[in-house]
Amino acid sequence: MPIVPTQEILQRAFHDRYGVAAINIVNDLTLEAVLAAAEELRAPLIVQTSVKTVKMEGADVLFDMWSDMASRVNVPVALHLDHCPDRAVISECLAKGWNSVLFDASKLTVEENKRQCIEVVAEARRYGAAVEGEIEGIKGVEDGIGSDAESTVQSLDVALDFIRSTGIDCFAPAIGNAHGMYKATPHLDNQRVSDIVAAEPVPIALHGGTGMTPEQFSDLISRGCAKVNISTALKIRFMQSGYDYMTGHPGEYDPPALFRAQRAAVIDMARDHIRLFGSEGKAW
Ligand code: 13P
Repeated sequence: MPIVPTQEILQRAFHDRYGVAAINIVNDLTLEAVLAAAEELRAPLIVQTSVKTVKMEGADVLFDMWSDMASRVNVPVALHLDHCPDRAVISECLAKGWNSVLFDASKLTVEENKRQCIEVVAEARRYGAAVEGEIEGIKGVEDGIGSDAESTVQSLDVALDFIRSTGIDCFAPAIGNAHGMYKATPHLDNQRVSDIVAAEPVPIALHGGTGMTPEQFSDLISRGCAKVNISTALKIRFMQSGYDYMTGHPGEYDPPALFRAQRAAVIDMARDHIRLFGSEGKAW
């Protein structure tokens, strides 16, 4: 039974204070590679799909690929829809069988976000699925979603009221993190994670994982960041390894050899992060 509810994966990680790698895949090769890394390290894993990837592959094909490949691994894995402002895409993915969704209504007022998030949670529950919520945009544009503007951080009371009244399973606060590449090591408000968790013990999603230091990961995970998102690192390793392979093998046009190099690079990237997050050996 490799596919398990995201709630279960997150609750165990939150309780035992390790981080589950939540990695955005972009196609079949990267999906298979991250599952292989999780299986090799006996780690639970959350596979994430952006709305762009869902639209590129089509929800039907993507989900069939996922359920077939996930059924072949024997570690706990779940499929998550990353930042999605579009309720129709959320409904489509929940009906297909995604295990969780991030309802990204950070562009709406907190009140409207809350009102709609309550509906999304009710919809998700009908499928046994989980919901991640956010009230502040995470800085940076990823797969066409988001903005480069600084996030407006809400008060602790507003955050707690949102968590409690929506019943979300996971909360994604802005703590100085950003999607994409950091120009310098970010200054992160780790105390905010502790303050939220002390008042409301909800697993926290750490966005913008690419470029954080090992010390930042372990500190934030110890404070309650049970889900650690990685997207840009996969894109870089996938594309750079392809480029390196092609430049190292001029005139060779052998797709399987190229794919092997890319697969190995993505597995390395996933392995490194799983180890950093302390989830190696945590499969049950
Ligand atoms: P990075 O692109 O910085 O790894 O962030 C990933 C993320 O937070 C996806 O939601």
